[in-house]
Amino acid sequence: MARVVVVSNRLADPRKAAAGGLAVALGDTLNATGGLWFGWSGKVVDESEGGTPGEGELHTHQAGNVTLATVDLCKEDHDSYYLGYANRVLWPMFHYRLDLADFNKQSLAGYRRVNQMFARKLMPLLKPDDLIWIHDYHLIPLAAELRSMGCGNRIGFFLHIPLPPPLMLAALPGHEWLIRALFAYDVVGFQAQADVNHFERYVHSEADAEMLGDGHYRAFNRTVLARAFPIGIDVDEFAQLTHGKEARETYETMREQYSRRRLLIGIDRLDYSKGLPQRIKAFQELLASYPENRKSATLIQIASPTRESVDAYADIRHELEHLCGQINGDYGELDWMPVRYIHRTVARKRLPGLCRAGRVALVTPLRDGMNLVAKEYIAAQDPADPGVLVLSRFAGAAEQLREALLVNPYDTEGSAQAIQRALQMPLEERQARHQKLLERIRAQDVHWWRKTFLQTLENAQP
Ligand code: ADP
Ligand code: G6P
Repeated sequence: MARVVVVSNRLADPRKAAAGGLAVALGDTLNATGGLWFGWSGKVVDESEGGTPGEGELHTHQAGNVTLATVDLCKEDHDSYYLGYANRVLWPMFHYRLDLADFNKQSLAGYRRVNQMFARKLMPLLKPDDLIWIHDYHLIPLAAELRSMGCGNRIGFFLHIPLPPPLMLAALPGHEWLIRALFAYDVVGFQAQADVNHFERYVHSEADAEMLGDGHYRAFNRTVLARAFPIGIDVDEFAQLTHGKEARETYETMREQYSRRRLLIGIDRLDYSKGLPQRIKAFQELLASYPENRKSATLIQIASPTRESVDAYADIRHELEHLCGQINGDYGELDWMPVRYIHRTVARKRLPGLCRAGRVALVTPLRDGMNLVAKEYIAAQDPADPGVLVLSRFAGAAEQLREALLVNPYDTEGSAQAIQRALQMPLEERQARHQKLLERIRAQDVHWWRKTFLQTLENAQP
């Protein structure tokens, strides 16, 4: 196979474990294929240090069989492109939160400028046969920029977050430009069939696209193949981590502390899309409606800090802290606190231990492209005595994980009922559901995702 060039805003050393769905999956991809990984270095250069908009120093270094090529961003570009257009406009809009979208032309200009700069820096590093795989909402126009510089390579794009329905997308000023940019790719991958359906309806009604069948769409003089490639995890690696020293330690500590108590877990970035306040309210409703859980059930919620300079993230943090304080104040006893809220990233090696100790996992986003935590929880279970996954129907993962207990996170009572059902589920039912779920995450794991996408891209007509 040709060399693989992966481009994403966020990079991680592929030899080390990372947090965040995208970095975890791309680390795995490049470990398997080798190649080049290009993106932001994570460094922000101040004007006083010589940072200039649209410019950034290129650094390269070798990490095993992967070359990491990164560029710095100046403060103005970081603020307008990453904090501004990507995370104050596209992230909320694509997660159905029009109310949080803060559109302005400076951030759009920064978004275009950084995409142009990425294209300029990447072009000289490319070989004619490279398969280029660009990731996520930060870099939608990158292929169009590369094409305008004469790049004739096959270029694929994968959107890790949901694509909203056409009318919601149409609320974005300049939406035509953004979707047109998708037609510069040869293959466009989405997480779920629902996203493909939104794309199809949008290009049909707004771009007068021709449907050529089998996922091919023609508009703006180009043909693109758009399909769902649901992202997965490395099931065996995660299951193996469960037996590692750190995971076992974590598991045993949890079992000791909660031997008579039922442990529920939540593991997320502290993002407003993850439905954390709704989750705490559902847990509160569980304690109110099913009092046998008082002094018995504990929810450990780990929420890692993320994008803290964006106001909406500071707001959600305050709201969550307030709710956790309230429920602990109302229901807590000297020897029992209902919620343990930890605002931190847990070491990846400990995560499987925590997952395995959790009798129930609450994965209840209001909207999510996929949600890998749901899959990690399944992979970490002891098949002889597995826990139960309570999963939002609005996570992309719900299209695959039909044997989870699916909930509507906006429905507090319904969610509390599902949690109660999960806590009381008999062993045989837990085993049967878990077995089926494990089969599903194995059938479409991260290796399947990488191979299927790259194979499709390689076979695409250049
Ligand atoms: P997102 O990509 O939106 O953060 P996902 O659930 O798809 O959501 O992926 C999150 C990844 O980051 C998973 O691999 C998960 O284990 C990891 N992660 C999320 N929150 C934490 C946390 N608090 N501590 C450690 N790892 C975390
Ligand atoms: C989601 C996005 C990724 C992003 C990650 C962490 O998974 O789809 O593109 O990298 O969140 O967010 P951050 O802003 O820290 O990169």
